[in-house]
Amino acid sequence: MKISHLVFLFVLTLSFFVSWGATSPFDVDDSVDLISCLKYKTNNVTFISQLVFTPLNSSFQSIWEARVNNLRFIKPTTPKPSVIVTPIDETQIQTTLFCTKRHGYQIRIRSAGHDFEAISSSAVVPFVMLDLVNMKSIDVDVGNKTAWVQPGARLGELYYSISQKTNTLYFPAGVCPTVGVGGYMGGGGYGNLVRKYGTAADNVLDVRFMDVNGNILDRKSMGEDLFWALRGGGTSSFGIVLAWKLRLVPVPEIVTVFGVNVTLEENATDIFYKYQYVAPRLDPDLLIRVRIFGEFIGNTTNKTIRLLFQGLYLGKTDSMLQLLDKSFPELKVRRENCEEMSMVQSSIVLADQGWSSSTPTEAIANQSAIVRLYWNYKIKLDYVRTPIPKSGLRKIWRKIFENDQSVMLVVYTFGGKMEEYSETAIPYPHRAGVLFQLLKGVNFADQTSDTTPTSLKRIQWLQSLEKLLEPYVSKNPREAYINYIDLDLGVGRDTYEEASVWGERYWKRENFKKLIRIKAKVDPENFFRHPQSIPVFDYPLVASS
Ligand SMILES: Cc1cc2nc3c(=O)[nH]c(=O)nc-3n(C[C@H](O)[C@H](O)[C@H](O)COP(=O)(O)OP(=O)(O)OC[C@H]3O[C@@H](n4cnc5c(N)ncnc54)[C@H](O)[C@@H]3O)c2cc1C
Ligand SMILES: *[C@@H]1O[C@H](CO)[C@@H](O)[C@H](O)[C@H]1NC(C)=O
Ligand SMILES: *[C@@H]1O[C@H](CO)[C@@H](O)[C@H](O)[C@H]1NC(C)=O
Ligand SMILES: *[C@@H]1O[C@H](CO)[C@@H](O)[C@H](O)[C@H]1NC(C)=O
Ligand SMILES: *[C@@H]1O[C@H](CO)[C@@H](O)[C@H](O)[C@H]1NC(C)=O
Ligand SMILES: *[C@@H]1O[C@H](CO)[C@@H](O)[C@H](O)[C@H]1NC(C)=O
Ligand SMILES: *[C@@H]1O[C@H](CO)[C@@H](O)[C@H](O)[C@H]1NC(C)=O
Ligand SMILES: *[C@@H]1O[C@H](CO)[C@@H](O)[C@H](O)[C@H]1NC(C)=O
Ligand SMILES: *[C@@H]1O[C@H](CO)[C@@H](O)[C@H](O)[C@H]1NC(C)=O
Repeated sequence: MKISHLVFLFVLTLSFFVSWGATSPFDVDDSVDLISCLKYKTNNVTFISQLVFTPLNSSFQSIWEARVNNLRFIKPTTPKPSVIVTPIDETQIQTTLFCTKRHGYQIRIRSAGHDFEAISSSAVVPFVMLDLVNMKSIDVDVGNKTAWVQPGARLGELYYSISQKTNTLYFPAGVCPTVGVGGYMGGGGYGNLVRKYGTAADNVLDVRFMDVNGNILDRKSMGEDLFWALRGGGTSSFGIVLAWKLRLVPVPEIVTVFGVNVTLEENATDIFYKYQYVAPRLDPDLLIRVRIFGEFIGNTTNKTIRLLFQGLYLGKTDSMLQLLDKSFPELKVRRENCEEMSMVQSSIVLADQGWSSSTPTEAIANQSAIVRLYWNYKIKLDYVRTPIPKSGLRKIWRKIFENDQSVMLVVYTFGGKMEEYSETAIPYPHRAGVLFQLLKGVNFADQTSDTTPTSLKRIQWLQSLEKLLEPYVSKNPREAYINYIDLDLGVGRDTYEEASVWGERYWKRENFKKLIRIKAKVDPENFFRHPQSIPVFDYPLVASS
């Protein structure tokens, strides 16, 4: 085992040098082999000439860029694939998998490319990028309250497809309409309905999945262990998801959305302090999220904090106002802050695109209507389990004042349905007792790259915020979210000790150990791997903790 690993590494290292010498004539030969393999296995000229790209194809760069969501990674120094394959059916995926293994490449699987570390689009070893951009069919079955969705579809396209057939069913998924179904479900998935219906992965009923040997499995044929792992364990460690079967959930025809700004001068500190106690315990029909901004007051040089409280209520304004009157009058939500609309319109309004309820529904599925300007960032995510004291909030505000307004801070409350799942129900462990998650990021939209002095200063600032937050967020482990993958958490993986440094933060100990055992069975040679994939060890992991 050890020796074969070494030989494999050696071969990889060799091919690394061969194909990464930028001017090496072997560049071409190397991928030609793989392409001959694809040609030979498919015997399909159309497939090869239309759906397979090497760096010699003029469209190679644009195909690669098209779904690198985080603009930070679109630069010449980011390692690109040797070959991109954009299959339109499952047999083409099978062939790609076969030839990729055969010729010693790694694989990267990309659905909509929102990976925060661009792991789906890049690797420091020669790799084939399996780009599922053409596998995006959505089949909504209103009668059975289910949908089959291929991985390349985006959440906005899913919402739109459902809304075309019914306005009383929906799927509890994420906020940003461009996120891919492929990656999103596999990590858990929170969104505006998380308090009512749990994570997206909680609502996955079945899956079509290709294992390392090219077998196509469903829930029944793969067994409950692997099906468990795919719902929150990060699917790219296990194989290729070909489609998810989703449970659609009931929503009222009319929902209510509200927005209220509160500044420090309007007692933002007191109100946020109370919010931490109230919002996670509210009726699960109501979710209130908060975006935190540091701003100048008017055109003075004095700064303030502005909290934008935004709510989604599964019902009409009257009953929501009654609810808030009783539990959170300090927020002062008035009828004029509220608007009734359909569920899909609420997704539009809350998509942070500057859209309103009069924006046509189509926009949520229309990539050219979506602004990509600010998607150039570094993000980290924490879970908060005890209310932050006012002194802590004031420290956080002061920290925000040190930032040059490149900060993004978003709070999503949990509670409700999230309290009902055990930590081990699926790999996603951030459940009972989590009051809210805190997303922190800095953006580089105004910078030419993430390495300009200003960008580096912002990253440093983010690290100092991380440190400042330590006493106030979850501990032992400080929980993290695999869908907000963060290589700063560590990439050690030779022993359990090393891997636990990041793995237990994403999944907690019991789930991480179970994921490692499942990985050892499903992909013992560790073909599906990346810097933070579930590791394979040379020694068995004992069954109990
Ligand atoms: C702007 C933005 C908004 C976001 N909003 C939310 C949110 O509201 N809620 C939330 O929970 N998360 C959110 N996320 C995080 C998001 O869930 C993850 O980035 C998710 O992994 C994206 O999926 P993707 O298909 O777009 O990404 P990709 O980059 O294509 O894939 C991400 C990972 O999944 C793997 N993968 C993708 N497809 C497959 C497949 N078919 N089979 C096996 N492995 C696969 C990839 O190899 C990679 O490891 C957001 C991210 C961004 C950038
Ligand atoms: C060959 O590939 C093309 C394009 O991908 C596809 O439309 C066609 O169905 C394939 N033919 C066969 C026999 O698989
Ligand atoms: C890539 O280039 C080759 C060689 O010129 C060509 O045959 C093939 O059709 C091109 N592929 C695509 C997808 O354009
Ligand atoms: C549910 O799905 C099955 C199989 O696709 C179909 O035959 C049946 O008509 C559906 N039921 C309803 C109520 O639509
Ligand atoms: C909150 O304040 C911002 C900045 O002043 C403004 O653009 C936005 O419209 C306000 N939102 C609400 C709901 O009042
Ligand atoms: C802020 O709180 C103080 C003390 O509780 C109160 O007197 C004051 O009216 C509040 N200000 C606003 C704008 O709500
Ligand atoms: C703010 O700017 C405007 C226009 O530049 C100016 O007329 C106004 O006097 C300024 N207000 C203050 C308080 O400085
Ligand atoms: C700015 O802050 C200082 C110090 O707190 C205060 O004296 C001054 O009045 C403030 N100016 C404005 C315009 O708010
Ligand atoms: C998609 O958005 C673009 C840009 O706003 C617009 O020109 C186009 O008409 C839209 N397409 C559809 C189908 O709505």
